[in-house]
Amino acid sequence: MPTVFITGSNRGLGLEFARQYAHAGWRVIATCRDLGCSAKLSDLPGVEIHALDVTDYGGITVLAEKLRDKPIDLMLCNAGVFGADQEFGMVDADDFAETLKVNVIAAMMLAQAFRPHVAASQGRVMAFLSSRMGSIADNASGGFYIYRASKAALNAVVKSLSVDLESSGIVSLALHPGWVKTDMGGEAAPLSPGESINGLRKVLSQVTSQHSGKFLSYDGEEIPW
Ligand SMILES: NC(=O)c1ccc[n+]([C@@H]2O[C@H](COP(=O)([O-])OP(=O)(O)OC[C@H]3O[C@@H](n4cnc5c(N)ncnc54)[C@H](OP(=O)(O)O)[C@@H]3O)[C@@H](O)[C@H]2O)c1
Repeated sequence: MPTVFITGSNRGLGLEFARQYAHAGWRVIATCRDLGCSAKLSDLPGVEIHALDVTDYGGITVLAEKLRDKPIDLMLCNAGVFGADQEFGMVDADDFAETLKVNVIAAMMLAQAFRPHVAASQGRVMAFLSSRMGSIADNASGGFYIYRASKAALNAVVKSLSVDLESSGIVSLALHPGWVKTDMGGEAAPLSPGESINGLRKVLSQVTSQHSGKFLSYDGEEIPW
């Protein structure tokens, strides 16, 4: 039975990843920052839940040590924030820094801490929830400085991981889930979490070493950096 490790699993796409992988018979290690805040997660059968605020970098190391004998076939770095005011003239430096801590630095720390767990598995995939908004090639509309910059930086991390972790047999990917109805995506989004995660699970099930260092959409499209 393969194992998936997911950050930010108490709502939105993380919860849907946990739900679908648990339903498919995977062993699910789900993390969220407040253990008390997701009845929906704790209601899922057989899911192992751990508390983790991804900006508590010491906490990432402690959890990695706690799980040291558990191979992780698929690590999903999903937890993310959008940032507050993003119009030119309105960007707040502290908010920008906080967004980078969650969306970029935490992903790097998770990759460093959990490399041995992923390397020891059969699946050996690290996948990072990015966004098409992080594509510099695709940016025709401008704005969204904080979110775009954070996901572009995450993409740079993923690309380097794909080179550096190749010798450990680890595939590193950036994923775009589409525009999805969650607290972050909002009600106007065209996709349900179920549709997005169905698509991403299909993409992930077809991943080989040839895909390492790629930026893939939920529908299989390769997105330019
Ligand atoms: N929805 C979309 O349309 C869309 C599009 C492109 C990319 N994405 C990406 O997909 C991922 C999931 O998005 P979503 O739509 O599910 O967002 P969401 O509904 O806002 O959920 C965000 C999740 O991240 C968690 N999180 C935030 N900061 C955290 C921290 N410091 N430590 C641990 N967990 C933290 C939240 O936990 P709390 O409940 O504790 O806050 C929550 O579980 C994000 O990386 C996002 O950028 C989403």
